Amino acid sequence: MAKIIDGKLVAAQVKEQIAQEVKTFGKEVGLAVVIVGDNPASRVYVNSKKKDCEEVGIKSYEYALPQNTTQQELLDLVVKLNNDKNVDGILVQLPLPKQLDEKEILNAINPEKDVDAFHPVNVGKIMIGDYSFLPCTPAGVMELIHSAGVEVKGKHCVVIGRSNIVGKPMAMLLLHEHGTVTICHSRTQNISEITKQADILVAAVGIEKFVTADMVKDGAVVIDVGMNKDSEGKLCGDVDYLPVSEKASFITPVPGGVGPMTRAMLLKNTLTAAKLSNDLKEGERLGDTI
Ligand code: GUN
Repeated sequence: MAKIIDGKLVAAQVKEQIAQEVKTFGKEVGLAVVIVGDNPASRVYVNSKKKDCEEVGIKSYEYALPQNTTQQELLDLVVKLNNDKNVDGILVQLPLPKQLDEKEILNAINPEKDVDAFHPVNVGKIMIGDYSFLPCTPAGVMELIHSAGVEVKGKHCVVIGRSNIVGKPMAMLLLHEHGTVTICHSRTQNISEITKQADILVAAVGIEKFVTADMVKDGAVVIDVGMNKDSEGKLCGDVDYLPVSEKASFITPVPGGVGPMTRAMLLKNTLTAAKLSNDLKEGERLGDTI
């Protein structure tokens, strides 16, 4: 029976440390969150981000723009926030309404304020292992793996999913820690033959119960990044939790696994951005646990 990796607990520890650092930082740490339109899921996410900021003493600035906002209006706002000394981090909530060019907007964010790590400069830095920010979900997954005392070095790590936000950077972070990494995706043939070889299996597919027990090796570490709704509208992951937890050595639940860590990592990135703007190098003040 697998040990549960408690994302809520680890996230609370990370947030505690961030709150301490924010308190003694010497200046207010600020995050601007931009939401365009009335996507209900985005509204829920943005509200949680504001609440998280409050909990650790980060000042959040919400910019809620109407659904019919033009590209130029949004670009103007991003430029204004780039130049605002009170704003250390900028997050533009995705998805954006159809008339807006998401790529152009993300590229306009100052990379040093890019707390999502979506800007091509930050993506490139991750590739060469010389980064200030990591995308929140993969960063959170690494923290969870570390918290369980699992060493990545030499392990076969299988990532299911190849998105720019999760799958690809996830693979890169596991590689930086000397894992042997395989990425599976929708066109992968014989996927279970590959997942069965995984010592560490990260599921980021977006399909309920995609990972079944027969796809998992005995003793594997199983990380579930999925955020799906089941037939009753309840939040569930990509992993068929109960049968898989019979085989795994460690497993993350949904809810209470990766989700809280993703949120905590946004706070960490905001603090990092504040340090960057204060010309403090990452690592000087941040301990090993976050
Ligand atoms: N929409 C859903 N998840 C995210 C995220 O991590 N960052 C942003 N900017 N938008 C999102």
